[in-house]
Amino acid sequence: MPASLFDPPGEPEPDPLLARWTAVDVHLGNILVPTDPALDAALDASDAADLPPAQVATNLGKLLQLLGLAVGARRILEVGTLGGYATIWLARALPPAGELVTLEIEPRYAAVAQANVDRAGTGDRVDIRVGPALDSLAALRREGGPPFDLVLVDADEQHGAEYVEHAVALAHPGTVIVVAGTVKGGAVADETATDDRILGTRRVHEALAADPRVEATALQTVGSRGWDGFTLAVVVR
Ligand SMILES: C[S@@+](CC[C@H](N)C(=O)[O-])C[C@H]1O[C@@H](n2cnc3c(N)ncnc32)[C@H](O)[C@@H]1O
Repeated sequence: MPASLFDPPGEPEPDPLLARWTAVDVHLGNILVPTDPALDAALDASDAADLPPAQVATNLGKLLQLLGLAVGARRILEVGTLGGYATIWLARALPPAGELVTLEIEPRYAAVAQANVDRAGTGDRVDIRVGPALDSLAALRREGGPPFDLVLVDADEQHGAEYVEHAVALAHPGTVIVVAGTVKGGAVADETATDDRILGTRRVHEALAADPRVEATALQTVGSRGWDGFTLAVVVR
């Protein structure tokens, strides 16, 4: 069984597939996503502050930046800031007058993220809002600002479908919505699963499939972070 995010606890078996996936990530990263002092510093600071290493993989971070550039994003929403690693990638897609709103429940994580986005030179474009994301999303809807062009949903999976529902309401036709971590070592396909993170992820896909306002797909990925994937939706009406 390849490296799964849902492997049982304990000393993991050395996994030859994981070693090969990691080697390919290193190879591709060295050419296409070279070492970046600001992003490396963000990871080091997050590590030093004991934040969980739950940030998106480097190549997914770069993909998020590319998606932002492809849609000409001026306003980006992120649900789940952690230490601001993906925030930095996303903010780099914005023009100087662009705005990124990112939602985080843990004040301590938000403080680390603020220092990281400032160090990366993106702090002027980033608005970190602390509190339960459902509350922050409801507040954003009440504020009635311009729609978001790109949304990353990367927080507690239990509320994933509600986050996507808010994201669609805060979007416009053409907005891209990415939901990170939606394969979970293959566990998403386990119809006997009882883990509420997996059940929540399954609900995201069911909700997207049933929503006539979006078209969606999901892709499996392998790499240094193991076997996972992401879901991509485009608002069509
Ligand atoms: C996977 S991490 C985000 C990683 C980040 N997007 C990145 O790639 O750098 C998930 C984050 O969501 C936050 N979170 C969990 N539940 C939340 C909630 N109800 N409201 C807001 N944030 C929440 C966690 O504290 C954690 O920082």
